[in-house]
Amino acid sequence: MPSIHSIPMYSAIRIPPEKGAEIRAFLLEKGLFDRTRKIQKLKTEKGLFLEIPVKEAAGDKIGSFTVFEQENPVFSEKTKSLKEYLKDTLTKEELISGVPTGWQVLGDIVIVSIPAALESRKGLIAEALLTMYPKCKSVIRDFGIEGQFRRPKREVLAGTKTETVNKEHGCLFKVDVTKLMYSKGNLFEKKRMSGLGRGEVVVDMFAGIGYFSIPIAVHARPQKIYAIELNPESFAFLRDNIKLNHVENIIVPLNGDCAEVTPKGVADRVLMGYVGTTHHYLEAALRAFKQSGGILHYHETVPEKLAESRPAARIREAAEALGKKVEILECRRIKKYSPGVLHVVVDARIFE
Ligand SMILES: C[S@@+](CC[C@H](N)C(=O)[O-])C[C@H]1O[C@@H](n2cnc3c(N)ncnc32)[C@H](O)[C@@H]1O
Repeated sequence: MPSIHSIPMYSAIRIPPEKGAEIRAFLLEKGLFDRTRKIQKLKTEKGLFLEIPVKEAAGDKIGSFTVFEQENPVFSEKTKSLKEYLKDTLTKEELISGVPTGWQVLGDIVIVSIPAALESRKGLIAEALLTMYPKCKSVIRDFGIEGQFRRPKREVLAGTKTETVNKEHGCLFKVDVTKLMYSKGNLFEKKRMSGLGRGEVVVDMFAGIGYFSIPIAVHARPQKIYAIELNPESFAFLRDNIKLNHVENIIVPLNGDCAEVTPKGVADRVLMGYVGTTHHYLEAALRAFKQSGGILHYHETVPEKLAESRPAARIREAAEALGKKVEILECRRIKKYSPGVLHVVVDARIFE
């Protein structure tokens, strides 16, 4: 089991923009400014800030500024590109035939797609990535995701470690990247969900390793969350993540098919964070609500032209069949799923 200390730390402070020059000079003088990452200008609900990357040696505070772990570090362009690392080992043709320009860093593991043309060079590419990210322990090749369980097809290229802990929005997510996919996307939706549900009973029907359940439990402190997951491997990590984030008193993990094990008549809020066949589970979702009703967050992948109509129509149809009423509150675009197809989430109020 990886210890929390194995997570690379990307420390930073947030300061008012007008203090930028002064604090940067101070950090440079003290040797605390981390040149490997960029200073970022951020607009938050609390105003405009500069997020300044600092070295781990900075400790917990710099003056009155709290040091925290940066969620989205942007690395300096001064850091050599992967191509530059490989320029003496790969031929010119190989360098232009698809050396990766993007990859995912999850905890202390790098996940990368490498084109088949560079098959014989994959080991060199992996070693170069480990040189670029000295805090990372393994490099894993990605071949995509398949099936109902969203199982990734992956190959270990360097190192042996496949399990890691990723920190996101103040929550810890342990995952084995060769067994399960971890979506670093949907960050906005995860943050939005984490602000909802205070004091409520929530049902998370496709909980995975706790992508929604954990941030909701940590930040909104609902009365209870029933987190349902079918895949035993995801379920094992869900249980670990509940412990890791100390939310055993809030989340009740249920291993099974949500069409069968979703509790009835308990929920103020139901999440359906799954795409493809989500509508098949609408009946179970609607039966989960208390008689007084509640809010449904229904995800669907839908052709762009139907985004405003089909998901809402499916909710209405399922509700009508159970004699329930629906008020559509919002339809939000989460991301482009594939050409011409959107991943959307519809918020709807369900009542009798
Ligand atoms: C893509 S993950 C979603 C995780 C999370 N809700 C999110 O949106 O980030 C979908 C999860 O649903 C699980 N799943 C698929 N069908 C299911 C079912 N019928 N009952 C319960 N879980 C299911 C899969 O194993 C997978 O872990």
